Amino acid sequence: MARQLKILFVASEVVPFAKTGGLADVAGALPQTLKELGHEVRVMMPKYGVISDRKFKLHDVIRLKDIPVPVGSETKMASVKVGQIAESRVQVYFLDNKAYFGGEGLYGNATTGQDYPNNDERFIFFCRGVLETLKRLGWQPDVIHLNDWQTALVATYLRTIYRDDPFFANIRLLYTIHNLAYQGVFPAESFAKTNLPPQAYATEGLEFYGKLNFMKAGLLHADALSTVSRTYAKEIQTAEAGAGLEGVLAARSADLHGIVNGIDYTIWNPAKDKLIAATYTAENLAGKAECKAALQGRMGLPVEPTLPLVGMVSRLTEGKGFDLIVAGMERLLGLGVQVALLGAGSPELQSALKALAAKHSTQFRPIFGYDNDLAHQIQAGADLFLMPSHYEPCGLNQLYSLRYGTIPVVRATGGLVDTVQDVSQPDGDGFAFKPYTVDAMVEAVSRAVEMYRDEPEQWAETMKRGMARDYSWLASAGKYVELYEHILSAPPRPS
Ligand code: ADP
Ligand code: GLC
Repeated sequence: MARQLKILFVASEVVPFAKTGGLADVAGALPQTLKELGHEVRVMMPKYGVISDRKFKLHDVIRLKDIPVPVGSETKMASVKVGQIAESRVQVYFLDNKAYFGGEGLYGNATTGQDYPNNDERFIFFCRGVLETLKRLGWQPDVIHLNDWQTALVATYLRTIYRDDPFFANIRLLYTIHNLAYQGVFPAESFAKTNLPPQAYATEGLEFYGKLNFMKAGLLHADALSTVSRTYAKEIQTAEAGAGLEGVLAARSADLHGIVNGIDYTIWNPAKDKLIAATYTAENLAGKAECKAALQGRMGLPVEPTLPLVGMVSRLTEGKGFDLIVAGMERLLGLGVQVALLGAGSPELQSALKALAAKHSTQFRPIFGYDNDLAHQIQAGADLFLMPSHYEPCGLNQLYSLRYGTIPVVRATGGLVDTVQDVSQPDGDGFAFKPYTVDAMVEAVSRAVEMYRDEPEQWAETMKRGMARDYSWLASAGKYVELYEHILSAPPRPS
């Protein structure tokens, strides 16, 4: 190793403390791998009400009590608790302010999916609080690694209000986009709450079609940008997938890197997983059949060992392809498959899926809500894993499926292109379709079902090829380190 870096990793959700999606998996695993590589890594996240002090053995940091953080014309107080990610002992700081973060949901009401009305203030407070905490702590990282819109304002604060503060003078910033569809867009009036200088709200600043866009802060002011796959890095520079920010991204094309996510094999490993009915390996797959029977039982589907079982675990949003699922479900079921779905999110999609389930209860069973155990059980028990995403920055579920011998059927977009090869390729490990249509999705599932039924040997080989893939974090963490080194070798980005 060239030299030890000090890295602060900032994210709004981190496994095992709080999770709504893949960001939390990444924020839990990448810092641990960076530490294994010999670097000093600490993590900062909000202290949500859902995070139990007792379960995670969090304690107050006395000298980090009552830190004043300006939010608009008021001063709010932050306190900091500290804990660790168990095995690796990566240090995690939790910024606490009950009024902002005391609720159970991370970004809104967990049941209705309705965003909190003060999300602007919550994350203004968090971003400025991160810098104030660092100062109090007296810990100077070499790099602050920011993730998604909730953390983006740190970049603009550092390059404006804190620009001349010698404490922060040598820090470089990496901003990672996990999903461009969530930019943190708020009414123009929210800008006053940031206390940033008025020139920061310009068209070439945080203004975005008359509104305040948090993500732009990261895109404009970080020293380098990254996103979670190479294909997505290219896609987001086009009008089709750039969600209005394609121009900003194309302008920083030279600084924008695609680094594919890894997965944490200590959590997602069918040989050791304690959450599934029986463990198994590529050499001995008996346990997988048990997992399938257990899953069929749990979902209330007929326990039929030979029917192809399609699994899905997803946030219920259009981006994940649920318009295709709703429109195409009856055609999928017409292929003679069972479908087990776990999903949290949109109440409208839930009703549409419920209506389909009522009509086809022996074949299609959805369960709504967030359930980590069931997510593992579906990965282990299904034969196929379906991800018809409209767009997908990286996607982790297809990587879990590969490991669990559950053959992925994916739409060829973003990170799914980079991680799943169609079986028509010599080394294929899944089924992919390109046009975003019901026809293309049904055709891909139908090819999978045919192989499952008619070519059991080829099916088994494909499964085993997927199970042998190595998507551990080591390689990707090494790429992040190269990128940190790269930004540290140049002067900070001027404001
Ligand atoms: P995204 O981050 O866009 O939701 P990913 O595929 O990267 O998509 O990651 C999703 C992660 O969230 C996976 O770890 C998956 O198991 C988990 N997940 C998604 N929905 C649920 C749910 N309803 N219950 C439990 N886990 C879920
Ligand atoms: C986002 C993306 C997903 C990605 C995850 C972790 O939630 O939607 O594709 O895998 O972040 O980077």
